[in-house]
Amino acid sequence: MRTDHEPAGITVVLMRAYQRLLQALALVLPFPQPRKLIGAGALRTLPPLMRGRRWRRPLLVTNRQLLQLQLPQPLLQKLEGAGRPCQVFDQVPDNPTIACVEAGLQAYRAGRCDSLVAVGGGSVIDCAKAIGARAANPWLSCRAMDGLFRVVLPPPPLACVPTTAGSGSEASIAAVLTDQERQRKLAMADLKLLPAITVIDPELMLGLPPAITAAGGLDALTHAVEAYIGRSGTPFSNRRALEAISAIARWLPRAHAHGDDLEARLQMALAAHAAGEAFTRTNVGYAHALAHALGCFYAIPHGLANALVLPSVLRFSRPACEPKLAALARAAGLGTSQDSDPMLARDFIRWVEALNQQLGVPPFIASLRSVDIPRISADALQEAHPSYPVPRWMRRSDCEALLTQLLADGASPSDAWFQSIPPAEADSPPEE
Ligand SMILES: [Fe+2]
Repeated sequence: MRTDHEPAGITVVLMRAYQRLLQALALVLPFPQPRKLIGAGALRTLPPLMRGRRWRRPLLVTNRQLLQLQLPQPLLQKLEGAGRPCQVFDQVPDNPTIACVEAGLQAYRAGRCDSLVAVGGGSVIDCAKAIGARAANPWLSCRAMDGLFRVVLPPPPLACVPTTAGSGSEASIAAVLTDQERQRKLAMADLKLLPAITVIDPELMLGLPPAITAAGGLDALTHAVEAYIGRSGTPFSNRRALEAISAIARWLPRAHAHGDDLEARLQMALAAHAAGEAFTRTNVGYAHALAHALGCFYAIPHGLANALVLPSVLRFSRPACEPKLAALARAAGLGTSQDSDPMLARDFIRWVEALNQQLGVPPFIASLRSVDIPRISADALQEAHPSYPVPRWMRRSDCEALLTQLLADGASPSDAWFQSIPPAEADSPPEE
């Protein structure tokens, strides 16, 4: 189903058909449900569960900052007390690389481990997933497993303990890595990467600084938005995306302003998890494609990169998804029952911008250089096409113009500017 704005030709038709196929797969594939331990103090119930499942030698994957904050230590002590001392791998950087996964694999083998426990944010969880995939499939490199359903043998069991509310990686089938040599992201995506156990314990998030809370929350917001406005929504993903938006609108400002609010932390962790369950069935969109490219070029943290581009991507997409943006506005508690869809769509985009401002996200990308824009655009569109079921097709020139508007010395992105791009035909309404 092409829109007027999409380039004519067999390529776009084939890409849209491929996305339809992925949508159909998401409807019929059996997504394994992890055992979920939810609530303050839930982490304390993990060791007995691991014992019951006969995980004898787990590799604990984390990073140094978290070890310094003593977050994994109670778990380590409990496991040691239960006669299951952990091998610890704490070398995960902010954006995990292939080299980091290989180092983790060495630790896994050195400890003769049989399971994994990831304690950290999305980077740590993604790294643990990739270590498990490599351990079970030693003849397949990370690059060989880049893409959909390329993990052949099931990895060892994994428990995920997110310490931030954002990535939703504990709910997703994906592991995103940085291929430093090729200066690009690679993403393994396979049902086998879903964890066996997920622990959502808000006590672990009480000490997070506001900037981390904002970046994580805005990453979760982007997951929910892109899952919902994309063309591959399922009844389940649409429901979870709307639930996530409602919770983020209510609780993110509170978690940001009052980091010690246990209820706000729990609700944001659940919202990030819901958004993860949504996007792992639908895929993401241009905001993520741009965020990954910007992350590779300038090492901008993933959540912040998403937040920087999301309003512009929504303005660009709006002509093709106004009813869906209006539904998101209602979920966020905006507008009244009398407001039309176009009004609500506009209000939702303005609300995203206001939330960015409230959480300290600038309206421009300070590190963006105009000389890099062609390459960033090419990388982003290469990532997005053909898999991302975006509501409105973006040409290279659109992408370059969008980024130009985000230069620190560029013109302010505005509704008027985005309306100057020829409109696409309206998209179909949400599938619920
Ligand atoms: Fe993300």
